[in-house]
Amino acid sequence: MTIITSVYNQAGGVGKTTLVQNVSYHLVELGYRVLAIDLDPQSTLSAFMGIDRAELKKTVYHSLMQDEPLPIIKSAFGFDFAPANLGLQNAESELVTADMKEMRLKDALEPVLKDYDLILIDCPPQLGNLTYIALVASTHILVPIATQFKAFDSTELLMATYKRARARANRSLKFAAFVPTMYDGRNLADTRVYKALAEQLSELAPVLDPIPRSVAFVDASEKRQPLAVYQPRHPAIVPLKKIAKRLAELCPTTNQSPN
Ligand SMILES: Nc1ncnc2c1ncn2[C@@H]1O[C@H](COP(=O)(O)OP(=O)(O)OP(=O)(O)O)[C@@H](O)[C@H]1O
Ligand SMILES: [Mg+2]
Repeated sequence: MTIITSVYNQAGGVGKTTLVQNVSYHLVELGYRVLAIDLDPQSTLSAFMGIDRAELKKTVYHSLMQDEPLPIIKSAFGFDFAPANLGLQNAESELVTADMKEMRLKDALEPVLKDYDLILIDCPPQLGNLTYIALVASTHILVPIATQFKAFDSTELLMATYKRARARANRSLKFAAFVPTMYDGRNLADTRVYKALAEQLSELAPVLDPIPRSVAFVDASEKRQPLAVYQPRHPAIVPLKKIAKRLAELCPTTNQSPN
């Protein structure tokens, strides 16, 4: 069984795309076969992967709306990915009237499940149709939460979304983990929010070690590289590896590398 994880929080700029890229990389290091899907019309993941988005002939849009196979690209970092560009925005409105809309991503993934142990979906920062079909197709949700004061607004909405997806379309959907992000341990407000998140959410799923706020993430993405390639000794690599390990634990085969 392939573990399909939506990386989702409707709050913008909390590190979803950064986690998809970096965690995919560390899962490959552990020996897993990984596919990352760019399901955000902003297509930041595709940009982080160094794709010229305007030049793309096929994107995830064509798989969702025109039944084309997923346009899978092999990255230099050992994982595969399916790119997007702004054209994916059209899917938001076209999905409203599409038949079997809930199943569109699930069906598009079906033919490639045998090729991957884990699939990570980079969701857009809103609850529209794209996010909804991601949650329907997923076995798990991984939630990055920025440790700033707005953190709790976003978790309330998130719980409502999760309950709705479970009740209507995907009873087996589970949280994989919560990941505090953009964390500044010198800032009292951040440590307060981190503690409160850990207290309130750990009964639902593990609250993992926080990802520190660091400009190295911005620099790495400008270089189109995972942090571990850009700066192999960066302290944020330790918590990133723990996220990969947590997702690997969800794989049914074994807790170890399958290779
Ligand atoms: N831990 C971090 N510390 C500092 N900057 C970070 C960190 N993680 C990500 N960033 C930077 O913050 C910006 C937003 O990150 P990212 O695009 O991953 O967030 P997102 O949640 O996917 O955003 P969106 O909601 O727009 O899709 C990017 O410029 C990224 O390089
Ligand atoms: Mg993003």
